[in-house]
Amino acid sequence: MRDHSPPLCPEWESTSPGRSARYQALLESRRQLPVFPHRDVVIHTLRRHQVLVLVGETGSGKTTQVPQFLVEAGYRRVACTQPRRIAAVNVAKRVAEEMGVQLGAEVGYTIRFEDVSHPKRTRLKYVTDGMLLREAYGDPSLTRYDCILLDEAHERTLNTDVLMGLLKSVLPRRPELRLVVMSATLESGKFTDYFDRAPLVNVSGRMYPVRIEYMPQPVRDYLLAAEEAVMRIHRDEPPGDILLFLTGAEEIDSVCDRLRWRVRTERDSRSAAALAPLLALPLYSALPPPKQQLVFEPPPPDGTRKVIVATNVAETSITIDGIVYVVDPGFVKSKIFNPRSRVESLLVSAISKASAQQRAGRAGRTRPGTCYRLYTEASFQQELAEATHPEILRSNLATVVLTLKKLQVQDLVHFDFMDPPPPETFMRALEMLYYLHALDDDGNLTQLGSRMADLPLDPPLSKMLLESDRFRCSDEATKLAAMLSTQIVFVRPRNKQAEADAAKLRLMSEAGGSGAGDHALLVQVFEAYLRHGQSTRWCYEHFLNDRALRHAVHIQQQLARTLHRLQVPLISPGVRAPDRWLRLRQCVLHGYFMQVAFWRRGKSYTIVRDEQTVFLHPSTVVQHRPAWVVFHEFVLTTRNYIRIVSEVRPEWLLQLAPHYFDEREYADGASRQALQRLGRYRASK
Ligand code: CDP
Ligand code: MG
Repeated sequence: MRDHSPPLCPEWESTSPGRSARYQALLESRRQLPVFPHRDVVIHTLRRHQVLVLVGETGSGKTTQVPQFLVEAGYRRVACTQPRRIAAVNVAKRVAEEMGVQLGAEVGYTIRFEDVSHPKRTRLKYVTDGMLLREAYGDPSLTRYDCILLDEAHERTLNTDVLMGLLKSVLPRRPELRLVVMSATLESGKFTDYFDRAPLVNVSGRMYPVRIEYMPQPVRDYLLAAEEAVMRIHRDEPPGDILLFLTGAEEIDSVCDRLRWRVRTERDSRSAAALAPLLALPLYSALPPPKQQLVFEPPPPDGTRKVIVATNVAETSITIDGIVYVVDPGFVKSKIFNPRSRVESLLVSAISKASAQQRAGRAGRTRPGTCYRLYTEASFQQELAEATHPEILRSNLATVVLTLKKLQVQDLVHFDFMDPPPPETFMRALEMLYYLHALDDDGNLTQLGSRMADLPLDPPLSKMLLESDRFRCSDEATKLAAMLSTQIVFVRPRNKQAEADAAKLRLMSEAGGSGAGDHALLVQVFEAYLRHGQSTRWCYEHFLNDRALRHAVHIQQQLARTLHRLQVPLISPGVRAPDRWLRLRQCVLHGYFMQVAFWRRGKSYTIVRDEQTVFLHPSTVVQHRPAWVVFHEFVLTTRNYIRIVSEVRPEWLLQLAPHYFDEREYADGASRQALQRLGRYRASK
């Protein structure tokens, strides 16, 4: 227990004349937030209890205010987790402004590839849940903090779930540590039970009624339907901003473009001169922060209406004031793990009822609103799951296992997860890490495994990078890893597909032809972008996403620095070396040997692991039908596809991963036969 009582009258209660007008205005609006009257209860409860669960409507001030209450109450090292990078950055900025301090000093943030905080001065840090876990590697009791807030706990991300388990075990060891679990929906019982009946503070928000409208018939194309819905609202409904939920950056950019174009054309044609201007603003993680900031600014006072086209980040993480209409197509991009192929992919899938309710709620923050659901009432009632499945139950656990091993948790199966994953999933993850040589025969972390945990990347990618100097292509490998960690860089506008494809082929021929593979193409694009001075115009002419490339450059610099720290020399065979791409493909295979497929018949390939039939994704530049390929990901759309593919030579499989391609490990079937042929081929050489 703290022996000194923190002052309950915060310094800012007394209006200090030195503060700017902006500061005073912010202060005034902060006092209006629903969470504000709960300030003293929160502080008092934490004097007597280690854990507090705080539940409140989105926009009630949990994320921005509660951490400030704690700083004012005298806690000196406060961390507040966010599942999303964009929210961590955005909120940190806002809070620094509210407190009238400089971002990166008293208030900061840490996200993957970016740390804007000060080791000594920062008192309040917003941090992604993944990065806080990483901090725990060197400091398993998180002694750097005296108060930790797990925000957006209702999202049940993998990392938040692991942190909850970890903190639950740390609390008895550190009686002075305080934990606040904050959540938006009403699943609070689960959190209070998990933390041994922790006290609950319920912040009742002021919510205005939201009318729900369904579609009479299912829609065929939700993007088109969304566009129509926004246009109709803009034409027919009284003023008020619109929030449209889509699933990813590409969709969002293209719908924003379409909306701008439609409004411009309608306004230009004389008959529709009465149509007000529409300001279409995207909101997603990869957007540069100044662009993200635009969604918070009021539209020009000439009757312009704002439409914000956002990913799920606007569901509960980021609140935008002034929204009166919500358009909800009912989809979200989420991680799905296919236990058969052991491949994790991002798929567009239906949201849950709880999500649909949250989304609708965004329309009723400032006055009564309307939510247009682009699905039928019957599908809402019958098809949507009640709540979103926790991520831990639909993930490849390899990274979690690596993390827990690094945190020196010995007994994985009995680790206190809120929703324990089935033991088989753990077995699969252990097996995968064993194949990667991250774990030894006894299941202990190897030196390589420990270094893999240090990199904020998937285990195969970490392995590829950490041992890339063996192939003398660590320079190429960091570029590739950066390109694989950003969004897709190739743009393919609906009306210019042929031109876009031609531009891609031109870049490909510079990389040495299609045989070099998709991985080589990514490196080639990265280098060409640098050669052309990171020019936006060049990107535009070559149908490349400028923003994604800029992000890749940033990531590559971070990775190069990390490798330097881990003493992996950055080397290249040279841009003209004839074996440059060959080395890169070997290096990729060194990490991704579990993602290998062989040609079977027609256009189909078979994944070695599970004999699943797959096709090369139409975006591939590989045209020569190689017998064996390594692939980066599995995508399920109309067919099973493998995306980002390169040829590998069969003898490499046995050289680089003999333990994995040992035919005796496979049941009789196509894979075993293919591996047998491979063995014979090798013996005959
Ligand atoms: O976490 P919770 O959803 O409860 O609310 P919050 O994120 O703390 O937001 C509280 C208020 O701050 C909302 O009314 C937001 O509109 C406002 N806010 C803002 O204007 N600009 C930001 N960058 C962040 C929050
Ligand atoms: Mg929040």
